[in-house]
Amino acid sequence: MSKKPPAPPQTEKRVFKPSREFSKKARIGSLQQYRELWEESVKRPDKFWAREASELVWDTKWSKVLEWKEPFAKWFVGGKLNVSENCLDRHLGTPRQNKAAILWEGEPGEKRALTYQQLHREVCRFANVLKSHKVKKGDRIIIYMPMVPEAAIAMLACARIGAIHSVVFGGFSAEAIRDRINDSQAVLVITCDGGYRRGSVVGLKRNVDDALKEGVETIRNVIVYKRTGQDVTMQAGRDLWWHEEVEKVDAHCPSTPLDSEHPLFILYTSGSTGKPKGILHTTGGYMTGAYTTCKYVFDLRDEDVYWCTADIGWVTGHSYLVYGPLACGATSLMYEGAPNWPENDRFWKIIEDYRVTIFYTAPTAIRAFIRWGDECIKKHNLSSLRLLGTVGEPISPDAWNWYHSVIGGGNCPIVDTWWQTETGSIMITTLPGAASTKPGSAGLPFFGVDAAIVDDDGNEVPANTGGKLVIRQPWPSMLRNIHGDKARYKKTYWGDIKGMYLAGDGARRDKDGYFWIEGRIDDVLNVAGHRIGTNEVESALGSHPAVAEAAVVGRPDELKGQAVVCFVTLKMDITATPQLREDLRKHVRHVIGPVATPDDIRFADALPKTRSGKIIRRLLKQIASGGVVSGDTSTLEDLSILAKLGSSED
Ligand code: WT7
Repeated sequence: MSKKPPAPPQTEKRVFKPSREFSKKARIGSLQQYRELWEESVKRPDKFWAREASELVWDTKWSKVLEWKEPFAKWFVGGKLNVSENCLDRHLGTPRQNKAAILWEGEPGEKRALTYQQLHREVCRFANVLKSHKVKKGDRIIIYMPMVPEAAIAMLACARIGAIHSVVFGGFSAEAIRDRINDSQAVLVITCDGGYRRGSVVGLKRNVDDALKEGVETIRNVIVYKRTGQDVTMQAGRDLWWHEEVEKVDAHCPSTPLDSEHPLFILYTSGSTGKPKGILHTTGGYMTGAYTTCKYVFDLRDEDVYWCTADIGWVTGHSYLVYGPLACGATSLMYEGAPNWPENDRFWKIIEDYRVTIFYTAPTAIRAFIRWGDECIKKHNLSSLRLLGTVGEPISPDAWNWYHSVIGGGNCPIVDTWWQTETGSIMITTLPGAASTKPGSAGLPFFGVDAAIVDDDGNEVPANTGGKLVIRQPWPSMLRNIHGDKARYKKTYWGDIKGMYLAGDGARRDKDGYFWIEGRIDDVLNVAGHRIGTNEVESALGSHPAVAEAAVVGRPDELKGQAVVCFVTLKMDITATPQLREDLRKHVRHVIGPVATPDDIRFADALPKTRSGKIIRRLLKQIASGGVVSGDTSTLEDLSILAKLGSSED
């Protein structure tokens, strides 16, 4: 079967320079040019960002670039613009009008291409549908859809009329949808009957129905796009078919000029407490950040076929599948399904078929490709590729080398991009024509990003010393708030060290100024590039009647980066059985969704705690990583000794 990838080498010393041809064509073609612009961008952010923002279309120009009352920023104060106008209307009447905006391939193999003009028309029509159902500026809309162009259309239609979308990843459960509806007080849900995933159909509408069964009061309508044709129940008066609704409206819908600080979207992400955080992004700054990073980092040109494999349910799908590339007038490819359907070569076939030039994916996917072997790759001509990217977690130098040579044929620069849902756009990377890449390092700060590694007091640490990754000044696409919770926003991101945004990652910086991300320093796991809060899984487990207490930690995993390991103590008189373990796994899937499925559930008689009752995660992590293993997985692990040991840690 699958071959294990070789162990990562201890040190990878090679540095990969951009080729002369690449640099010659690139917008930023030398390290010196990057440095000069970067200096300007952090010393005179108003000047730098005003220049970038001027490349967008504004209905009213801003009067002030930045108003900063820590930790609250307003960018392009007084300016008015519309994101959908910047992604669509401004390309009409230019040679891009009839260029493909979205190239789409369904998992079963259908192909669609939407030109900028066609996409504009569909967005206008759907915006009119929203209006016809009384959706107003500022209303919140949940989008729970698979990777179909209509997902992007729905997002852009919201943006067009100033409604605030909140996309919920299709791998989340009914309960997760319900929580997000209630937290955002959404008035409408846009979904599909179902979606295709690895040859089977996923019942999305069914999950929405379950979410709305009880405990939701704000939803007036559910609009359902027919994707699979599977049977669904339509509740009269509430549920509407997309295809019927768009027939009732015309395609004329002027975009609404919105204040630069008008909210564009809320995207929920895991934090270190049980409740996901609704990360709030606004219009002018976010658009400027997504546009500017897309332009420089991917060095997009009109001939490119750009493919970002992220799902629209994550921030990468927002910024680098929809908003960034469309604002740049690029051709953005969207694929609906799994990379290994019907065969392991699906991605390589797509690259060959569409002559993809830029490919942006996640290290967890790259590790899967390595496992599947090079044979299925060699069958395809990947010579159209000119630039590769990664995002979501650190990439091991080994995986990097494989990506570089097998996928990139040894001649594509790789941009390893560090950023977060909260940052809205790429913060650290090497600009492909300007800086050399070092396998395993995300690289240098992007324009306007004053990133540093500091100790607990906020002092910058010497080169190659580990510390906290912080950003020392505001940037346009930064989050503005946690929806409805200013106090949590302040405390989580700006409460640790004065004047510094705390990313929650540990990292070090080498003597050349390159950042090496070491992973989260809070209780957040990175499972296959998805953020999972250990507390969320703990509370999901805790809601099962058999569970007394649960502690969840990460364990290094070859494929997923981190695996979810749960230590569970049971209520009195409950026996640990393999069946119960399976029930608990199912329970977590039900409460949070398949993304959070535990890899390992270990029953214990007690959890190691400090005298004050705090679970000692450090010990559990060691055990989870193989320090202490019990042979028979159905028996209780005797952690009582550790529990006692732990009490000396207070
Ligand atoms: C966390 C943010 C932003 C896109 C997808 C994830 C980790 C992200 C990298 C990278 C090392 C990375 C960090 C970060 N991360 N990119 N290039 N190298 N780690 O978004 O769900 O908000 O997660 O992902 O730990 O804090 P997210």
